[in-house]
Formats: sequence, C-alpha cells, structure tokens
Amino acid sequence: MAADGRSAERELRASAEACEKCPQLVASRSQVVFGAGDGDADLMFVGEAPGAGEDREGVPFVGASGKLLGELLAGIGMTRDDVYIANVLKCRPPENRDPRSDEIANCSPFLIGQIRLVEPIVVVTLGNFATKLLRQDDAGITVIHGQAELRSLGGRTVRLYPVFHPAAALYRRPNLELLREDFSRLPQMLADGSPDQAAVESQREAEAVPARNVAEQTEGRGAAKPPGPKPDARPQLDLF
Ligand code: URA
Repeated sequence: MAADGRSAERELRASAEACEKCPQLVASRSQVVFGAGDGDADLMFVGEAPGAGEDREGVPFVGASGKLLGELLAGIGMTRDDVYIANVLKCRPPENRDPRSDEIANCSPFLIGQIRLVEPIVVVTLGNFATKLLRQDDAGITVIHGQAELRSLGGRTVRLYPVFHPAAALYRRPNLELLREDFSRLPQMLADGSPDQAAVESQREAEAVPARNVAEQTEGRGAAKPPGPKPDARPQLDLF
C-alpha cells in the first residue's frame, strides 16, 4: 500500500471507529473490529461479524473459527500475516445474532473501501453473508462454494471465491473436507495473478446495486446457531 493508501486506510479505520449508525451495535460493542493483516495482500478474506473474542481483542477471527482459518492457511503455506481479514460487519451483534440488512447496508461501504485500498487478487467470502453481499445474489454457499468468478469490487476486477464459513466446517465435518478442498485451489488462483481489468468493466458494482433478497442466511455458516423459524418470504436483505 502506498503512503497515501496507508493514510486513506487510517482515515477509513477512524471513520469506522467513530461510526454510530447502528444503535444496537453501538450499544453492544466494546470496540469496532475493523480488519487485520497485510494491507498489500493478494488474498483477502471476508467473514460475517465479530464475536465475543473479536470484540474483546479488536481483531477478526481470534476464536475457534480463527484457529481453523489459521490451520487452513498453514495448509497452503501461508499465515495470517500474509493475508488481509475483514468482516461484513465491524461491530459485534448482540448475542451473536445474525447481521441485519440495515446494518449490512450501513457497514458495507467500509468493506468496499477496504477492498479498494488492499487491491487483492482474490477475495474469499467466508459463508453466506459475505458471499451474498459481494455477489449481490441470493445463491447459497452450499451450491456455489469453490467456484471462482470475476467480479468488479472496489473499482477493480477481482477473483471472488466463496467458501464455507469456518464455523460451518467446525459444526459439520463434511463441510471441513469441502473447505480444505476449496482452500487447496487458492495457490493456483493467486499464481494466475490479477485478472484482466477489462474483464468485467461493465459489471455493476456491489456497492451500487440493491440486492434482491436472500433467503437462508445462515446456510453454510452451518447450523452453528440453533434452528430458528423458517425465513419468511419477505426480502431479508435489502442491502442498500
Ligand atoms: N470471527 C470473525 O471475525 N468473523 C466471523 O465471521 C466469525 C468469527
């Protein structure tokens, strides 16, 4: 990241830390968990939201999911310091509830800003919330995990790569096998380098497109949460 990028990153971080758009999150957070890692990384991960440990430490993915993420990275010869890690929401939802559509809408400019500054080659979306937000589509992770596609994000063409959320892999062993398999493709995707920047020139950006809805938000993060009522028929995620 160039010096002006670093100062832009500081500004973006400061503006996230001062954000008070979501009253419930402001009330429940101890601190804003902006992101961590190499600001010049080729590989960026996007999770869902901070949990209790992240809220305490101010760093994404420090709990059991984070431990697994570290192991998966080690499996491809990388460490957390080689990548950049962020979340859809920068504040912990109360009781670890799912992010709400208005919260995602409020917070997503920070994520898009992070992608713009880091300029990754590959953006790995961990689970449904990140995947549905950045794909602007309601396709579920169980169907589309492991399928890379070119997307325009943060003003550039990146390889968007949806995989299961580590929590879903911890909850269901078969998901862990799939997650390992999906991770094993990352080195080649990185070696392929930055995609042709004209590839999706005309594609609308996630930040500018209202999402249609999204059902089954927790699918693929696993039923890491107790089964709730069926999602209702109304759009649950009117993102912007
Ligand atoms: N920790 C995070 O930072 N994000 C998640 O999505 C899960 C755990």
